[in-house]
Amino acid sequence: MSLVLDLAAQDLLFREARTANAFTGEPVTDDQVRAIYDLVKYGPTSMNQSPLRITLVRSPEARERLVGHMAEGNRPKTATAPLVAILSADNEFHEELPHLFPHFPQAKDAFFAERPVREGSAALNAALQAAYFIIGVRAAGLAAGPMTGFDSEGVRKEFLDGDHTPLMVVNIGRPGPDAWFPRGPRLEFEQVVTTV
Ligand SMILES: Cc1cc2nc3c(=O)[nH]c(=O)nc-3n(C[C@H](O)[C@H](O)[C@H](O)COP(=O)(O)O)c2cc1C
Repeated sequence: MSLVLDLAAQDLLFREARTANAFTGEPVTDDQVRAIYDLVKYGPTSMNQSPLRITLVRSPEARERLVGHMAEGNRPKTATAPLVAILSADNEFHEELPHLFPHFPQAKDAFFAERPVREGSAALNAALQAAYFIIGVRAAGLAAGPMTGFDSEGVRKEFLDGDHTPLMVVNIGRPGPDAWFPRGPRLEFEQVVTTV
């Protein structure tokens, strides 16, 4: 056994964790979301830039507006999940860098003065953080249903402040009946890993 994480945790986070497509009505509380964030915020990003921003869509009125931006097949689950979060990348993340990366406060201007550079870096690092967030949801004993099937510009205009780019919309809750599609195969080690 090469892994030090206990088997139950391995199963909870990966082997038995699935992407949920249906949910029970059990609410997901702000305390649960806070506990998830307070765990996954320690996941690494380049220069600790931490560009992920999370918008919790709680009110029925906001939920209805969000559903209108989702691809057809994603609408029923987005309408019925106990909680839906919009994960976005903050393209102005560099404003926080002097605080987040204090041993090199010049990074803000030396590396991130240009908008296209910021946008690329925010997209990569917020996507990493989105992955940490999904694993964090699983660590809370909940299931996540991440989706990129939505009108990105519509979601940005309607829900996001400032210069944020939507990355994914995530349904969160306890899996309900018929929550899973069949488990897809994964690529094997030999197909993915090369050694030079
Ligand atoms: C970034 C991302 C975007 C996805 N977008 C959608 C989507 O728009 N609609 C959907 O039904 N599933 C979507 N999925 C779900 C994937 O198809 C699913 O996570 C994958 O097939 C693995 O399923 P499993 O966890 O049950 O093994 C998305 C997943 C990810 C990570």
